[in-house]
Amino acid sequence: MEIDPWSSAQYEDYARLRDEFGIEEFDPTGLPDPSPIYRRGIVFGQRGFDAIKLAIMQKKPFTILTGLMPSGRMHLGHKMVIDQVRYYQDHGANVVLAVADIESYATRNMPLETAEKLAIEEYLINYIAMGLKEDKCQVYFQSKRSLVKDLAFLLGKKLNWSTIKAIYGFEDSTNMSHILSPLIQAGDILHPQHADMFGPTPLLVPVGVDQDPHMRLCRDIAASHRLMNVTHTKDDRIGVFVKGEDDVEKLLNMAKEALSKTGFLDFELNVGYKALYVPGAAESDMPTIEEVLINLEKEINPLTFFLPSSSYHRFMTGLDGGKMSSSKPNTAIFLTDEPDDARKKVMRAITGGGMTVEEHKANGGKPDQCTIFEMFLYHLSDDDEELVEIQNTCKAGERMCGHCKRECADRLEVFLKDLAEKREDARLRVERYIRYD
Ligand code: TRP
Repeated sequence: MEIDPWSSAQYEDYARLRDEFGIEEFDPTGLPDPSPIYRRGIVFGQRGFDAIKLAIMQKKPFTILTGLMPSGRMHLGHKMVIDQVRYYQDHGANVVLAVADIESYATRNMPLETAEKLAIEEYLINYIAMGLKEDKCQVYFQSKRSLVKDLAFLLGKKLNWSTIKAIYGFEDSTNMSHILSPLIQAGDILHPQHADMFGPTPLLVPVGVDQDPHMRLCRDIAASHRLMNVTHTKDDRIGVFVKGEDDVEKLLNMAKEALSKTGFLDFELNVGYKALYVPGAAESDMPTIEEVLINLEKEINPLTFFLPSSSYHRFMTGLDGGKMSSSKPNTAIFLTDEPDDARKKVMRAITGGGMTVEEHKANGGKPDQCTIFEMFLYHLSDDDEELVEIQNTCKAGERMCGHCKRECADRLEVFLKDLAEKREDARLRVERYIRYD
């Protein structure tokens, strides 16, 4: 299996994907009032999420960064990211949203001006209508932010062609802007931690799992620029490892001094291994050690970053059972659909129901294979008990598809009408979210 961020694959077996790529399971335990998206396993995987959980629980600053590539119209499958952004906003996050206009130029041939218009009209106005708050939130364009482009250039220093080619399968004929776009995305993801923005701060990127190759790359890039890293070694020790030539001993002693001020007592210094072991430390001390090291390092290294954390959500199935795609209007409910059009699409959608009413009553339906059940699961029911009730009555053959579809269409109508109204107000406020630099 491979993950290609520019393909149109619909990854179905998420547990397998997670295991194969070393993505960790997303465990919402400890998150304050987790929204349905977390309770229901829609966000199913993560890398380094503990750092974010800790920041939320300790009410420390953290940043949410995500990006949108303007392509077609915004549909319900795009809504999960913004639901998450709102959740973190409610829990104190700084929010930074990237408009990936360079990426859509490089990979979809879209002019920057078109991308800008589309991003505002289709995406931002809907984000705001769905409740994205203005406070501690900014939207920028890749093509207009020099810090992002500068970082892309600087971060490329520790990355070579064979790595990039192996990750993305680029070929000799791939255009150079496309080849550079993963570095621009690394610039997006890391720039909020630059001294010109918030400085080193825990940062989470909530995305669809198709973006995992970018996240792995970006975490590697961040690690490769760090002079001091804390590791849980194979022989079960917590150690600080430094990079350097003549200054190894100096760096190790700096780390030792800073850590002893934080209360760690025993140290074992091994200059040959470029290591400082902290025998008294446990796995749970690693975030504290990491923080100490970063605060130390940022004084001497302008490219000091916490490894960015990521979380991955599932994709919604299209209403025809395939991929939900803006290029196939009947597979998706667009946020700007008229309720009547949405109703028609819902009534034609593939369900998990039996072939005939008799068969459905006898054998029951399969909610786990039903696009309508997915709508309730992802968007149209906040109440877990109700959801279980829908699931059980379907499985028992008591709930008929026609009835279920009408209920879905009714709720969609309320949602779409409300959103259309809120868009009017959002349109007046959208400029306040945007930074043109
Ligand atoms: N590559 C992303 C997409 O195809 C868009 C994107 C650009 C992005 N920069 C980002 C996503 C930074 C998350 C973080 O949708």
